[in-house]
Amino acid sequence: MENQRESWGSKIGLILAMAGNAIGLGNFWRFPYQAASNGGGAFIIPYFIALIMIGIPIMLVEWNLGRYGGKYGHGTIGPMVYLQAREGVNPRKAAIIGAVAGAFAFAVTLLVTSYYSQIIGWTLGYGYLSITGGYMDAAQSTGEVFVNFIQSPKVFIFWVLALVGIALAVMRGIQEGIESWAKLMMPVLYVFGIALAIRALTLGSPVNPDWSSFKGLNYIWNPDFSKLNWKSAIAAAGQVFFTLSIGMGIIANYASYLKPDDDVVVSALTTVSLNEFAEVILGGTAVIPIAYAFLGPEGLGQGVGLSFIALPNVFRAMPAGQLFGGLWFLLLFFAGFTSAIALFNYLTALVEEDLGIPRKKASWIIFFGYIVVGMPIALEPMLTKTADLVYLTEVDNWVGIYLLLVLGFVEVVVAGWLMGDRALEELNRGGYWKVPTWFYKIFMKGITPIAAAILLIFSTKDYIEAGYFKLVPSFVADKPELVPWVQGARVVIFAVLIVGFIQAYKSIKDK
Ligand code: PHE
Ligand code: NA
Repeated sequence: MENQRESWGSKIGLILAMAGNAIGLGNFWRFPYQAASNGGGAFIIPYFIALIMIGIPIMLVEWNLGRYGGKYGHGTIGPMVYLQAREGVNPRKAAIIGAVAGAFAFAVTLLVTSYYSQIIGWTLGYGYLSITGGYMDAAQSTGEVFVNFIQSPKVFIFWVLALVGIALAVMRGIQEGIESWAKLMMPVLYVFGIALAIRALTLGSPVNPDWSSFKGLNYIWNPDFSKLNWKSAIAAAGQVFFTLSIGMGIIANYASYLKPDDDVVVSALTTVSLNEFAEVILGGTAVIPIAYAFLGPEGLGQGVGLSFIALPNVFRAMPAGQLFGGLWFLLLFFAGFTSAIALFNYLTALVEEDLGIPRKKASWIIFFGYIVVGMPIALEPMLTKTADLVYLTEVDNWVGIYLLLVLGFVEVVVAGWLMGDRALEELNRGGYWKVPTWFYKIFMKGITPIAAAILLIFSTKDYIEAGYFKLVPSFVADKPELVPWVQGARVVIFAVLIVGFIQAYKSIKDK
């Protein structure tokens, strides 16, 4: 079945768009604090193991899944997984598998954006604060600046501004919108990242002779094997999923705009390499050494606050700090923006393809949907006068980490076992390089699904122990006013999964 589906304009445009999809806040905001709080160098070991055993194979699976679905006019996970699964099981069963996978992808793309777009708004707001010197006054701690910021109505302005920008980009379509923004933003992002990394390495020890930026670098590269444990391994694998944008449906969605004989193998590996360069080399070299040089080992333990609370302290102390602060937050903004476009496009494609609504109108529908699902996250700090962000955390824990693992697992089982050898044949069609049969057999049928399953089991165990399954999770036990926010988040997640399942099932024809 051929169709009038849009496609990418050029190879370089496709690669930059895919890099824009994968390179996001995960590389610069999430990776540094995950690495820092999970043992530095010790985190890097399971990280690379997970990248090879799970990350690269699932990246190949998603590209293949997308190009295959695109041939039939589909860019969303439900019908795409169905099309592959029905090569191995009867259409009714395949439709159920497709609908389950589609429900997860729907939940991820809808709910991850609910907080991801929020954080993009913060980066825009902080870019503005950097240039205007809004956090430079030492009279207020950077923690207070942050709390004031997220509790103020300014948050709305920057959030809505970011969402409008994303909507306008997606509205213009694959070539004119997504591809042209990626061609502009990604090269700039690399230049900023390299500038910050060079600055980091030339800092010396500005504050304390024991804290040099090279020591910070050493911290992330020198493995402390005593810190190697299951918890850091799970965190590392979770980071691999998040950073590569796999288990979300958005890589497959972008791949659905390939032509049937376009290369998949080399392009997928290029996407992984570009993302890892930005993550390990730029994200690792810029942020961790800078924070270490000014704040010492303690400064690295700040978790989520590393970007928005610890680094502004650094910019206060650094010569030309406003400039470097501006560069940093603009870099975060570009990274987040090009990833959010991918999430936004997924749902736009869903409305466009399954409901037959033209792209422009579909984009506005999604825009309003995002305003609705994102509202609780913007409101929580204002209404509760807290800065715990428990709604955001709850959504991130379930949707931003756990569901990705489940969807990744389903995708690789469908490719490796249900579609089987046909999947390998598909994967290699048009490829500049071919994936060897032994690799496919060992990874897609064995190592990758088993590793993903083990991870799922251990994450579940971890979640139970951390009290996530309790009606009142441990992390809000001492703050009763926040309990409704956590429970509200769960109700929303559940409802979205149900809607996603029904929608995906209905969109699967001929079952
Ligand atoms: N891969 C993107 C990143 O590293 C992640 C992402 C994309 C996350 C879209 C959520 C949504 O930030
Ligand atoms: Na990434």
